[in-house]
Amino acid sequence: MGRLQGKVALITGGASGIGAAACRLFADEGARVVVADVQDDMGVDVAKAVDGEYVHLDVAHEPDWKRAEAAIAETYGQLDVVFNNAGIVSSRSIEDLDLATWNRLIGINLTGVMLGCQVGIRLMKANPGGPKGSIINTASTAAYAAIPGDPAYSASKSGVRLLTKAVAVHCARAGYQIRCNSLHPGATHTPILAPALQAAPQMIDAFNRMSPTGRMGQPEEIAAVAVFLASDDASYVTGAEYLADGGMMAGHPGI
Ligand SMILES: NC(=O)c1ccc[n+]([C@@H]2O[C@H](COP(=O)([O-])OP(=O)(O)OC[C@H]3O[C@@H](n4cnc5c(N)ncnc54)[C@H](O)[C@@H]3O)[C@@H](O)[C@H]2O)c1
Repeated sequence: MGRLQGKVALITGGASGIGAAACRLFADEGARVVVADVQDDMGVDVAKAVDGEYVHLDVAHEPDWKRAEAAIAETYGQLDVVFNNAGIVSSRSIEDLDLATWNRLIGINLTGVMLGCQVGIRLMKANPGGPKGSIINTASTAAYAAIPGDPAYSASKSGVRLLTKAVAVHCARAGYQIRCNSLHPGATHTPILAPALQAAPQMIDAFNRMSPTGRMGQPEEIAAVAVFLASDDASYVTGAEYLADGGMMAGHPGI
């Protein structure tokens, strides 16, 4: 308890799944949490539950970021953590993919993370005591092994992986104590998988079998890694990739 005491954290996609779990764990560790999402009712409920604040923030929409930036500067006068976690899937193969779907997904999953890094760095540079903070970007195991039925998702998540490293090295070389790391969940029990499971309920077995543990992850198990990366325990961790996948990527597939 108290690992995030005194810190202000902005968590995108905070209304549901991994983001909502992170809001709860961050608050349990003493952070003041700004819950950001486009699902307003659910976001407000999460914010109430963690004694935090809700902001409507479409991560693909720069004016929303500017509004959130101004509100955080005015209300808190500091920002210590940005968890760029909002994301969507498209479930369209390369042959089914249309440009609008590609642009929307890349806008949320990749451009949204880039904008979150920019806003995070601007606010963290103005922190009392100098430029300091932690940026955590949710990627996926799909950053390493493509999902053939979702090239847009795979491309967005591999983009997040290297975007993260570029931000990390830039900040370190600039002399900022601003760290930036990517978090790579495996199949995790959240609403993002609901449409796939509704269409084919037997997919649950495939999701469970993806990990040698034989089970999917729980959102809290992913959020717990974000707590570590947000905390000062990770003070020498930057530009790194953290898998939380139950060993999915550790074994040779099919052997
Ligand atoms: N669940 C998994 O198996 C899994 C695996 C790997 C990576 N991820 C990643 O984890 C992250 C969180 O997903 P989740 O599994 O908790 O799913 P989720 O659907 O429960 O949560 C995603 C949240 O993002 C929000 N969101 C969507 N578009 C947004 C936008 N434009 N602006 C702001 N918020 C927006 C949604 O409203 C939702 O609250 C995503 O980036 C996802 O790609 C999930």
